[in-house]
Amino acid sequence: MVAPAASPVRVTLLPGDGVGPEVVAVGREILRETAARFSLAMEIGEGCIGLAALERYGEPFPVATQEEVSRSRAVLLGAVGGEQVGQAEYARRPEAGLLALRRSMGLYANLRPVRVPDALVPLSALKPAVVQGTDLVVVRELLGGLYFGQPRGRGRNEHGEEMAWNTMVYTASQVERVARNAFELARTRRRSVVSVDKANVLEVGLLWREVVDRVHADYPDVSLSHQYVDNCAMQLVRDPRQFDVILTENTFGDILSDEAAMLTGSIGMLPSASLGSAGTLYEPVHGSAPDIAGLDIANPVGTVLSVALMFRYALSCPEAARCIETAVDQALSQGYATRDLSTDGRKWVGTREMGERILEGIRQS
Ligand code: IPM
Ligand code: MN
Repeated sequence: MVAPAASPVRVTLLPGDGVGPEVVAVGREILRETAARFSLAMEIGEGCIGLAALERYGEPFPVATQEEVSRSRAVLLGAVGGEQVGQAEYARRPEAGLLALRRSMGLYANLRPVRVPDALVPLSALKPAVVQGTDLVVVRELLGGLYFGQPRGRGRNEHGEEMAWNTMVYTASQVERVARNAFELARTRRRSVVSVDKANVLEVGLLWREVVDRVHADYPDVSLSHQYVDNCAMQLVRDPRQFDVILTENTFGDILSDEAAMLTGSIGMLPSASLGSAGTLYEPVHGSAPDIAGLDIANPVGTVLSVALMFRYALSCPEAARCIETAVDQALSQGYATRDLSTDGRKWVGTREMGERILEGIRQS
């Protein structure tokens, strides 16, 4: 009897806006090639989100996309956001589609690894001696804080003056679950967590710190320290090698991860994985960059490394993840880089060619 072929895993692509479609086109090729190379049967679907979805369906996260996403094992997203005609109310902004997607998939832990490959050390805005060997992960809580807290809104106060408000709110269980992710991740790395808050000013920070301390009791083999967010922002550029895992809330994580990205010379390099209760999502950290959309100059590496994270976390294929990461390192050390990394006058290649160079490395591995 012939064993039935394993049913293919379904992966959904959400190219989104700006440079999203270009970098996801490269991601699609990397997915295909790597799946074939590691004999993984894969089926690739596609959906619409953000401005692209607003234009086609009148909403930033349409039902058709929700259905497509719910049928798949993992999602690869490009970027969301762009110029809109007039100032749309918040729910009709493209970014609201991304937040709705995060919420619908229960994505509460966002992992943003920052590694500086040797080839990029000279390109960093910081001195080589400071960045060399940087290898950290920002674990950003993704479903709480200012992004989702109620009340939020705009109005006028009793004197008729315009005002706007957002609420930073966390429950203990929201802090606890993401803290567990950070400690578990630290166990696979250098066993050190720095938890970042603003406990000297905010009640949320006090609760955050207490809960993280409580969870830490279950991970005595991992070291834990706390930093205030302003101090952490400084430490990241003063001595980034002190960090292994940085655990923080939603808004602080958004800001600190952009800062940390520059250690690598370009935000185009950074991948991310969002883990949750109903599926996982992979996306580069850079935004939609509408000013360079369609010019074949965007850096696809953040997306390619996000595909690597997908193989590691969603497709249980760490060898495939390492194969992609090695191919990226090789292409960079052979001197290939996109325009964002060519500040030292080195020649640069376009989005598609950079993808081709990485694909070559995968084929030859
Ligand atoms: C990110 C982005 C998003 C965020 C925007 C596009 C809503 O900046 O993923 O870091 O703020 O979370
Ligand atoms: Mn951001």
